[in-house]
Amino acid sequence: MTGASSGIGEETARLLTSKGWTCVLVARREERLRPLAEELGGEVELCDIGDREAVGALGERILGRHPAIQLLVNNAGMPARGTYLTVEPELVERVMDVNYHGGVWCTRALMPGLRTAASAGGAHVVNLVSVAGTVAFAPAGAYAAAKHAQLAYSRSLAAALRGSGISVHAVLPGFVETEGFPQKGVLKSRVLGRFVIEPPRVAEAILAAVEKDKREVTVPWFPYRVIAVLQVLAPGLVGRFTGMSGYRPGSIPES
Ligand SMILES: NC(=O)c1ccc[n+]([C@@H]2O[C@H](COP(=O)([O-])OP(=O)(O)OC[C@H]3O[C@@H](n4cnc5c(N)ncnc54)[C@H](OP(=O)(O)O)[C@@H]3O)[C@@H](O)[C@H]2O)c1
Repeated sequence: MTGASSGIGEETARLLTSKGWTCVLVARREERLRPLAEELGGEVELCDIGDREAVGALGERILGRHPAIQLLVNNAGMPARGTYLTVEPELVERVMDVNYHGGVWCTRALMPGLRTAASAGGAHVVNLVSVAGTVAFAPAGAYAAAKHAQLAYSRSLAAALRGSGISVHAVLPGFVETEGFPQKGVLKSRVLGRFVIEPPRVAEAILAAVEKDKREVTVPWFPYRVIAVLQVLAPGLVGRFTGMSGYRPGSIPES
């Protein structure tokens, strides 16, 4: 479980543990992971998943202890608020490294363990994408682009692994109130603010995706699935709406 030190990852680790899973908790903040691991009886691994070499070493350490891995949850991620006109170039690169490449490196690093588990009954990869993977949300342009890339990776991996015993699932949450994404405080639109959900709901969706073998899950279904369909059928309309949406002053870098 990557990104287990807060938000959706922490809630999912709690839920999975309650269902009998043993979790390896991955993130950078040791002071957050240690007490959680102690509480859940899990293991701690510190890693910046945007660093490909570090993820390679992480994979070796985990596989050394766990030759078979039944479930990988690629959840770690960061925000990048701001349009393409305001966001710093370094952030455009970093959000791609963490939100897209990070999951790719983790999956590749742990693939031997997933294959071992698959041959003994089955294995799962869950990618925490976002509705921003299907809708080009202008106020967080670089974030949306990284999430589009992550969804394409997830779908193509699912197709490549068909019949291998490893199921790949994409979970696409809408706005969720977490530490890195304090949506209730930063979203300008009162309409969007009404649809903000809490992390336990996403954790349940992750578990359901695995247990019911669902390929792609949007949570909550309404209104986000409708907007995703509109993005395909009426991109101009969705562009007008997301172009008018935004974040409160002070929550994004100045242009
Ligand atoms: N909240 C939303 O509205 C929302 C909506 C759709 C999708 N999502 C996605 O859900 C996932 C979880 O986000 P969240 O809302 O739960 O946010 P969060 O509470 O800020 O959690 C983010 C987690 O990712 C970890 N992380 C960030 N950068 C990392 C890095 N370079 N290496 C390793 N770990 C890193 C953080 O741990 P450390 O800081 O300790 O490393 C933390 O555990 C993300 O992929 C996000 O894009 C969120």
